[in-house]
Amino acid sequence: MCGIIGYLGDREATPILMESLKRLEYRGYDSAGVAVLADGAGADRRTSVTKSETKVDVLIEKLQANMPTGKLGIGHTRWATHGKPTYVNAHPHTDCHQRIYVVHNGIIENFAELKSELEAKGHEFTSDTDTEVVPHLIEANYKGDFLAAVRAALKRLRGAYAMAMFSTDDPELLVGARLNAPLVVGLGEKEYYVASDITAIIPYTKRVLVLGEGEVAAVTPLGPQVYTLDGHTVKPKLIHVDWDVTQAQKGGYPHFMLKEINESSEAVANAMRGRLTDDGAVSFREFDVPDEDLKKYREVLLLGMGTSLHAAMIGEQVIEDWAGIPARAEDASEFRYRRPTFGKHTLGVVITQSGETADTLVGLHQAKERGALTVAITNVVASSAARDADGAIYLNAGPEIGVASTKTFLAHLMSLYLLGLRLATVNGRVSLERRDEIVKALRALPGQVDELLARNKEIAELAHRYSKYRNFMYTGRGLGYPVGLEGALKLKEISYIHAEGTTGGELKHGPIALLDDQFPVVAICTASSTKDKMVSNVHEIVARNAPVLALITEGDKSLDGVATDVFEMPEVEEAAAAILNSVMLQLFAYHVAVELGQNVDQPRNLAKSVTVE
Ligand code: F6R
Repeated sequence: MCGIIGYLGDREATPILMESLKRLEYRGYDSAGVAVLADGAGADRRTSVTKSETKVDVLIEKLQANMPTGKLGIGHTRWATHGKPTYVNAHPHTDCHQRIYVVHNGIIENFAELKSELEAKGHEFTSDTDTEVVPHLIEANYKGDFLAAVRAALKRLRGAYAMAMFSTDDPELLVGARLNAPLVVGLGEKEYYVASDITAIIPYTKRVLVLGEGEVAAVTPLGPQVYTLDGHTVKPKLIHVDWDVTQAQKGGYPHFMLKEINESSEAVANAMRGRLTDDGAVSFREFDVPDEDLKKYREVLLLGMGTSLHAAMIGEQVIEDWAGIPARAEDASEFRYRRPTFGKHTLGVVITQSGETADTLVGLHQAKERGALTVAITNVVASSAARDADGAIYLNAGPEIGVASTKTFLAHLMSLYLLGLRLATVNGRVSLERRDEIVKALRALPGQVDELLARNKEIAELAHRYSKYRNFMYTGRGLGYPVGLEGALKLKEISYIHAEGTTGGELKHGPIALLDDQFPVVAICTASSTKDKMVSNVHEIVARNAPVLALITEGDKSLDGVATDVFEMPEVEEAAAAILNSVMLQLFAYHVAVELGQNVDQPRNLAKSVTVE
């Protein structure tokens, strides 16, 4: 997600903001901006805002050419969510009178209703961002006390935010606030920082206060005071960090891949944020097709490559099951050479994390030419896929630096589930009770992912034992099949161990010939509808002496004494299990690769974005 930095101290703010933004650029690089409050009193005290609609370097050039002076400032590097990466959408954002300046990381879920309310009161908006409601809302609540106005405004926000802000009326007050997004306050010598992560401030201080959920830091030259939204004082946690910049960018994790797997619960929550109401209504801001129109689409074509193709295969099953419409997932690179039968009653869903995969873009163009309505599910706002498709569903997962896709795969699954739910609703294919069940299951996922991540050590121990094998088979049925294919892909691409996937049924039609005591099988046996069949498959595998690592539902004893290892998963909806099982298999692959000493973040022969066919 975006990177934010705020500074208040006795040095010039601009050079510090520039350096910090450079270090934060790994969090997002769509656009950048700073606001610096000039020293002086009365009319001399003006705020200088500098923005770039592209990378931080361009912002730095502008600042170097025209360096604003002042000891209070805020800065931002953006990973676009609401609104394209343009100059007006770049942060900081301000109120109607350019008195209040805000930078924000996160998503304000209820920004549309707040914006209408504020517009009705006469507030004028200039950007497409969700963030801009914040300075206006603070302005609407301002009665001479900036901090009180901030607290009153924040109480109205739903969603996720980490913010830094100031008001020209309070030249010695820098305010930071957080909810569902991290924020730290750095303590220097007569200077203070507010930052979205420690990376921004690591060269300046090792002493950092970590804000809790729903807390607000009021930073003055006397130091920071931390409050709840109700104004009660709290004592924040003080930590000492001794990381270098690279360690800090990785959040203290040894690899980006592990950091990104650990961001899965946030990615899953962000893919849902602002899109799913408690009663199961789904809406996508950039794919806003009225129910009556959406109903006309009689089939769904899902295109993707690699990990995104596996997401498509899961989407295919879920859409068919929930919405009752024929759905098919296709390898986009093959699709273009066929003469497939589809047309204007087809909804073409293009799945691409980067939005730039050449094979997938060709498929998208072909689908469009044939008259299909197209939507790109992508992590990159204004990417080629997002631009070329009729609509976009953004993952909002934040940048993924590890070459192997992890958190974006999970965000893709969540986005496809929401699309499935929307199609099911418009087609009248889902009862209210079933919809409630699905919504409950999806909403519970971020917490369940966190519980699973807490079992990292258990998974590392399994990986340690299995890392001696040179071949792996992954098998499952239903959603467990593409989950297995993705597990195998993760393992092979980062550990260079041969791994393949097959359905439980297909196993005995050929692949079983490979198995022996040196060829372990990862068996996904959590799906209740096919579990018994998978249990029989595991018996067949064990009869060939192959070691079996089975993922089963907790409390299920059917593989005790049969599988070599059993990893218990919570009992959840099958769609939810696909997410949880995938997180487990990502961690498993990660630990195997680390055991083998491989470069997990940059595996050989691979690139993050494959822009050639
Ligand atoms: C594997 C991986 C690749 C990509 C594929 C498509 O970990 O990342 O298989 O999934 O190259 O990329 P996107 O999703 O950007 O279209």
